[in-house]
Amino acid sequence: MPYAAHPVGTHPSTTASLGGIHVSSSASSLQVEAFDLVIFGGTGDLAIRKLLPAMYHRFAEGQIDRASRIIGIARAELNDASYRKIAREAVLKVDKNAPEQRLEAFLALIHYRSLDGRKDAGWSEFAKFIGEKPDNVRVFYLSTSPSLFVDLCQKLGKHKLNEGRARVVLEKPIGTDLGSADKINDDVAQVFDESQTYRIDHYLGKETVQNLLALRFGNALFEPLWNAEHIEHVQITVAETVGVGHRAGYYDDSGAMRDMIQNHILQLLCMVAMEPPSSMAPDAVRDEKLKVLRSLKPINAARTPQLTVRGQYRAGASEEGSVPGYEEELGHPSNTETFVAIKAEIANWRWAGVPFYLRTGKRLPERLSEIVVTYKSVPHSIFDQDAGALAQNRLVLRLQPDEGVKLWLTIKNPGPGGLKLRHVPLDMSFLEAFGGQLPDAYERLILDVVRGNPTLFMRRDEVEAAWRWADPILDAWTDSNEVPRPYTAGTWGPSASVALIERDGYTWNEEND
Ligand code: BG6
Repeated sequence: MPYAAHPVGTHPSTTASLGGIHVSSSASSLQVEAFDLVIFGGTGDLAIRKLLPAMYHRFAEGQIDRASRIIGIARAELNDASYRKIAREAVLKVDKNAPEQRLEAFLALIHYRSLDGRKDAGWSEFAKFIGEKPDNVRVFYLSTSPSLFVDLCQKLGKHKLNEGRARVVLEKPIGTDLGSADKINDDVAQVFDESQTYRIDHYLGKETVQNLLALRFGNALFEPLWNAEHIEHVQITVAETVGVGHRAGYYDDSGAMRDMIQNHILQLLCMVAMEPPSSMAPDAVRDEKLKVLRSLKPINAARTPQLTVRGQYRAGASEEGSVPGYEEELGHPSNTETFVAIKAEIANWRWAGVPFYLRTGKRLPERLSEIVVTYKSVPHSIFDQDAGALAQNRLVLRLQPDEGVKLWLTIKNPGPGGLKLRHVPLDMSFLEAFGGQLPDAYERLILDVVRGNPTLFMRRDEVEAAWRWADPILDAWTDSNEVPRPYTAGTWGPSASVALIERDGYTWNEEND
């Protein structure tokens, strides 16, 4: 019987107040089959900050069978005890009140092996160790530089670790362009079948992103109005306050386009724009996302200056006080962008003529990820001027912080004094409505891998279609030799980003309260 904070199979039901209405939730968290989660890059940022705490939380919810093992792999000469110490600190950093007994029970599942993907030493012993639990589902999580994916897969294949119920998880970005992504996918495919390959994009595991599916396809209310006839434009913003810090080495080869737009933001765009899938079956959903990616209007070199803006932060201020510029953090000059804004278009019947404004950046004034769907104005106003201006309806899906949904409506300002109009949100904060802490995206996604459910993972053809759209923009930027536009840390990016949307008569959404 695993350690269970609550009886296995249930979360406690919560009841909360939502603007006077009581909402009750009782999500179920069923235990998954025993598994081995092998984290290559086990001492890396992602493993420490996200993967180990994610596993602890699922363990605390009673979802992880005690026959499971979590095995960190890196080149460093650590052992089980020293890696458990690292894991303990990682958990305590996010959950400082983790009960000691539970934490110890979790740490007992943790192991460490020192391996180098480019050398043979230690691999046979590792294969033997994995073989000790032949019935466990095997998840090989490649949280390393993509340049190591192929070596690691070949080693796994050589030692027959790809057999049976083995799965490989590839962290984004897959390659740096279509050609390199193809090569990685081809090489991985020599060892792992597509059905065993899980390309993770953690944005798809975020609560609000999945809620978009529930909202769009679980309500009769939205879908009939979800098209060019009724929607004026869509904005997708992923803003971060952090700089690149110690990730500068990786980031400088990548930039905001490869790090955020090609994957996270295009996946969000797919969830907004896709046709209703016939079911939640993995390929039903992924087929529809693929159609959106293939319908993105290409942005060629001639259109790139009008439709895209790239920026790089200079010294300025953030929540931490004054902060250095990107090049100072990096230690040398660089042409890499830390901000991108793009006007994208989808060439199909549903979306023709509806601009999708995409924006992401580091060192922006707030950490904020949201999707804003703005509806067209009413065709004719029956109100006189004294009533005030008629605002457009807006549906705001907030991914973080404070996940939730707001639908902005026009109502009559209460009270006497003539009919005055007011724009107010129907506001649902998930935290307020359902209480408790929402699980991190990785918690859900890793367990989906164990369950063998790839619905929320990117299929090979999706990754390729995303690169096919991104590559010409990246090439145009490189060929133009233009340096990214500077912006001061703590501002909303270069002024050209404001101009990009204002040229069309719109503004970036600022109404967050
Ligand atoms: C990662 C990017 O995929 O997503 C990072 O590599 C970025 O640069 C991060 O900071 C953002 O994720 P989240 O969940 O914090 O919004």
